[in-house]
Amino acid sequence: MATSKYIKSPMNYTGGKFKLLNDIIPLFPKEINNFVDLFAGGLNVGLNVEAKNIYANDQITYLVDLYKFFQESNEDELVSAIKDRIAKYDLSKTNADGYKALRNEYNKDKSLLDLFVLTCYSFNHQIRFNNSHEFNSPFGKERSSYNNTIEANLKRFCSALRNKNVKLSSIDFRDYDLSFLEPGDLVYCDPPYLISTGSYNDGNRGFKDWTKVEDAALLKLLDDLNDRGVLFALSNVFVHKGMRNDGLIEWSKKYNVNYLDKTYSNCSYHFSDRNTKTVEVLVTNYGDASQCDATALSENIVKEEPSVKYSQLSLLGNATE
Ligand SMILES: C[S@@+](CC[C@H](N)C(=O)[O-])C[C@H]1O[C@@H](n2cnc3c(N)ncnc32)[C@H](O)[C@@H]1O
Repeated sequence: MATSKYIKSPMNYTGGKFKLLNDIIPLFPKEINNFVDLFAGGLNVGLNVEAKNIYANDQITYLVDLYKFFQESNEDELVSAIKDRIAKYDLSKTNADGYKALRNEYNKDKSLLDLFVLTCYSFNHQIRFNNSHEFNSPFGKERSSYNNTIEANLKRFCSALRNKNVKLSSIDFRDYDLSFLEPGDLVYCDPPYLISTGSYNDGNRGFKDWTKVEDAALLKLLDDLNDRGVLFALSNVFVHKGMRNDGLIEWSKKYNVNYLDKTYSNCSYHFSDRNTKTVEVLVTNYGDASQCDATALSENIVKEEPSVKYSQLSLLGNATE
């Protein structure tokens, strides 16, 4: 098995940035003292950054507790404990009853080991809770299972969590104390996207939903960091499946927009390219990125699918109808 340059999260996280790391990491400053991954999710970004101090935060307490558990575990003992649970519940790609039995067990005793095993066998490896904070991801029939790739990823992940001494926390981003940061430190934000939904932000999941209010609060927080000379990098999408985030596009004009799909960076998008429906960006308050007219660009893309109503998704009330 070829080892990739970057460490891949064993969580196979929805919205995880692993595939974009080759585009994102080179856009970070070469030397970083404090790096904060404010919406860490699968930790694909935070764990692959070279910085003196790495801080990782996510509102899903169970996820962060799992990372703390990994950080304190010996990899070989962890793998052996995982295999014991798989054997005990006879878990496989086809044994839905075994999966459900383990899920019931987890919801009673909340063992972190069992939570990880469940994500290996759940539908799309989703980590999803109901309002009572019970794990409720369905079984990933014929598709999900613990395998050699997950095991290799898990081992690298655990050792990096420990060696890089990642400081973990689980708090709403608005309550995270960023006052210790100094000019030149970097805050990376990969929030849920207002115009696309992950299982962690589709509402009614026991954790706070992502709405226009959170989106606007985050943009304000980034403006405040900018005023203090703290660097930020924001992952997001301008356009997704015929929808457009106008408030974000407008706000981004103050900063640098790095188009992660190079098709857009020289504004040479062709209407005939119907496969490209997501405009993924990294907005930074440093560097010298493409200043392509994002509004015109995204209007052109959205016009491809005139049946989709996107105007009501505009933020901050400054969208053009
Ligand atoms: C797109 S995912 C991050 C993926 C991550 N960058 C990766 O590569 O694996 C967004 C994350 O934001 C978290 N989140 C949502 N609302 C939050 C809030 N109010 N405060 C902190 N974290 C939040 C979600 O739990 C989710 O894990």
